Amino acid sequence: MMTKNEITENLTTTVFAKSVYTFETIDSTNTFAKSLPQHKGPHGTLIIADEQTSGRGRMQREWISTKGKNLLFTLVFYPEFGMEKISLLPFVGSLAVTDAIETVTGLSATCKWPNDVLINNKKVCGMLLETSTGNSPANKVILGIGVNVNQEDFPEELKHKASSLKNESGIEIDRVRLLQKILEELENRYDQLSFFPPQQLLHDWRLKALLFGKKITVLESEFSFNATAIDVAEDGSLIIQTEDGQKRNIFAGDVSLAYN
Ligand code: BTN
Repeated sequence: MMTKNEITENLTTTVFAKSVYTFETIDSTNTFAKSLPQHKGPHGTLIIADEQTSGRGRMQREWISTKGKNLLFTLVFYPEFGMEKISLLPFVGSLAVTDAIETVTGLSATCKWPNDVLINNKKVCGMLLETSTGNSPANKVILGIGVNVNQEDFPEELKHKASSLKNESGIEIDRVRLLQKILEELENRYDQLSFFPPQQLLHDWRLKALLFGKKITVLESEFSFNATAIDVAEDGSLIIQTEDGQKRNIFAGDVSLAYN
């Protein structure tokens, strides 16, 4: 298990991961983060586990990860900006993870809308943003991140679309170093979103994005259709062109490259 000391030693962040919870096993770091009151989990709190028994993914999916091999963590935010920027936090996350992976592993990584990180077209990281607008004075937002780091075996049905940094690079990756780099990049990108117009962050994200100009399959709840990915809008939605030529924005859902 990673210790709090290992994580915070030499970490150069000023706000993120000043409060840290580590677990060997937990149901879900996101669920724990949701239950933390602000005095126990202030802005920037990190919750990290070696194993989750009910890891949650987007669109009601599960997130399965071999114990001790990967990064499973959540950050707690009390943003001082409004909903229009809160909905861009997945871009903060995917850009930070992409840059950190490239620095630490030398691999080249790309961002897939809304918040996946891919290497060689295979998913190595996903994130789950959850907002709770309860009675608390500030609006709490939590960002859960799962990175497949050193896991080598994947279930048969995932092998064609999921991978890990170890499988793509051929070498064992130092999880602590990668986590520290991600936290530092996250803090920088969070500040970029806080203090500058969102166009800056989206501009940088576009440079790492994979889909534009490509044929994709859009999955909106139960419903799927083919389209071409055009761009990402300022509100974080994906601009697509459907097969009958119409432009539309997709706010929630999932997309995959159409192979044909
Ligand atoms: C997705 O791609 O569907 C999102 C996956 C998010 C997984 C992470 S692992 C840490 C945190 N805790 C959870 O239960 N989920 C997120």
